[in-house]
Amino acid sequence: MTKPAFFITTPIYYPSANLHIGHAYCTTIADTVARYKRANGFDVEFITGSDEHGLKIQRKAEENGMKPIEYVDGIVANFKKLWEMLGISYTKFVRSSSLEHEKDVQKVLQDVFAKGDIYKKKYVGKYCVPCESFWTERQIEEAGGVCPDCGRPVETMEEEDYFFKMSKYADRILKHIEEHPDFIQPVSRRNEMIAFLKQGLEDLCISRSSFDWGIPVPFDKKAITYVWFDALLCYFTGIGFGTDPEKFKRFWPADVHLVGKEIVRFHTIIWPAMLMSMGQPLPKHVYGHGWLVVDGEKMSKSKGNVVDPMAPIREFGPDAVRYYLLSEIALGSDGNYSREGLIRRWNSDLANDLGNLQYRTVSMIEKYHQGIVHKTVVDNEVDAKFRTLAAETLEAYRKQMDAFQLNDAIKTIWAYVGAANKYIDVTTPWILAKDPAQTKRLEAVMYNLADAVRNIAILISSMMPFSAPKIFEQLGLAVPDQFHLDDVAWGNLPDGTKVAKGQPIFPRIEEEKEAKPAAAVSKKETGKEAKKEGVVTPDEITIDDFARLDLRVATIKAAQRVPKTDKLMQLTVDIGGEERTIVSGIAKFYTEEELPGKNVIVIANLKPAKLKGIESRGMLLAASDKEGHLVLAEAPGIASGSKVK
Ligand code: MSP
Repeated sequence: MTKPAFFITTPIYYPSANLHIGHAYCTTIADTVARYKRANGFDVEFITGSDEHGLKIQRKAEENGMKPIEYVDGIVANFKKLWEMLGISYTKFVRSSSLEHEKDVQKVLQDVFAKGDIYKKKYVGKYCVPCESFWTERQIEEAGGVCPDCGRPVETMEEEDYFFKMSKYADRILKHIEEHPDFIQPVSRRNEMIAFLKQGLEDLCISRSSFDWGIPVPFDKKAITYVWFDALLCYFTGIGFGTDPEKFKRFWPADVHLVGKEIVRFHTIIWPAMLMSMGQPLPKHVYGHGWLVVDGEKMSKSKGNVVDPMAPIREFGPDAVRYYLLSEIALGSDGNYSREGLIRRWNSDLANDLGNLQYRTVSMIEKYHQGIVHKTVVDNEVDAKFRTLAAETLEAYRKQMDAFQLNDAIKTIWAYVGAANKYIDVTTPWILAKDPAQTKRLEAVMYNLADAVRNIAILISSMMPFSAPKIFEQLGLAVPDQFHLDDVAWGNLPDGTKVAKGQPIFPRIEEEKEAKPAAAVSKKETGKEAKKEGVVTPDEITIDDFARLDLRVATIKAAQRVPKTDKLMQLTVDIGGEERTIVSGIAKFYTEEELPGKNVIVIANLKPAKLKGIESRGMLLAASDKEGHLVLAEAPGIASGSKVK
């Protein structure tokens, strides 16, 4: 049976400079959707590329003493390098300067010309070189004499150019948008386009003759075309318009053009008009995503805040960058990029939640069952409920992915991760392990956990294509060429699988700037108060002394034995949203697995101390019996951060 076809595109990026994190954002979304479709059994074409022609690039090349093609060759190589580093699974990278593309553009121009939709007229207008856009006198005036898009000066251009009769298609485009409510998404962009169309459309200038870095117009060798009839047609070239008619027929119309909000107009008005003139069907969806700002500000060279995506990829790895971009921003809205935000997300969602689940699970299977997973089912309500989560998660995840709610889809997976961590806390495998009557139950719990980790790896594989295989490897599973979402179901982990614990897949990133303790008391203040008190006996404290102790409920997020000691355990705790490292002498009495999830009581304003080179910020309260066994003081069910009085 042939697979259903799916075709997704990113914009064809300008190689006037290297790409920044905003471009990486768009391409990561497209890649995630492409991978998601493949995991659903689709045959996917995924096109990206470079929009190389135009005056801006010609001038940049001249400034650098190069030919345009030499200039863009270097930058396009960097684009490709970036996509490789980020794991972008495009099927074709279309260069608008390629001969294959030139032929496609010329064929379309010739056809549209023959149809009578292209004519020549003298053009006098204001032109913005950086935006490659003509503007009317009125538009310039309203913008205060500058380009309405970028605010830079415009140039007066006067020449005989070819025009495309776009105005002729205005009514049909409006009708199409009105009859296909999900053609333009999100709805805010759709409303903008409807309002724009209702003002009427002007014909579009599609050629130039005062420079030559473009595609020669086939019916007039003095003119070149660039921008619309050039860049948009890259989508055709990518699926074999002129070279592979079968393939073109199979993949056109595109399922989704994913574009930034400012180019929605080109994709939902100009492109449809061109397609109508060509007699081609319109793309099914155009999705306009929001913009990424950096630390709250628009990226710009003059502000010096342009983020090169290669830097965080090198520092944190591609999946950390992908996960952050996908989880942090609701598609369609603008969002913020910050290094601190990325570290925070990594530590909380990846190191603590997912990383811990995977690590604890594999560690316990090694410890209790010599690394072997036994497929066992026991009649137990908690287990039965947990087993249903795989199918429920998959259903919700698919709905959200199909609706382009990628960040919600991530939340759905993380609810499953959270439920699995909770399942460990509730089933307490370390207690089951001590009771021979619970042998079968322990096997079932271990199986359910390992199987859940397997399901989660498949679910995250579209977003984090580098991490999912690592999880499979540690589970002792062969990494498939292609993950399949249909495999997300309870019970697909083979009986007898032997896990292979390795290094933590998401090790914590130590933040350089640690947040201040919740109720820190400065040395100066402490000194003053001590002097004021002064009259109490050595073994008494006043109520004020006691009040200086900041006792809080904290939730243990992660636990790791400190190497080369038998006493110390390094704990990551959450105190009302603030994360800390505390080193505690409880390693003889608790295992790494049983600690996460416990609500304990800590002295939050204890002066930080270094233990075995690890800075410990706080102390856990514990009771000790006659034999010196320590039992942690716990506060189950009390929110982390709550004050203990
Ligand atoms: N070459 C045209 C597109 C032609 S498509 C047939 C173009 N190129 S671009 O390189 O300037 O921009 C490409 C895409 O990057 C646009 O969709 C734009 O919205 C996106 N972004 C540019 N800056 C961005 C952010 N700061 N954040 C998110 N996306 C941003 O336009």
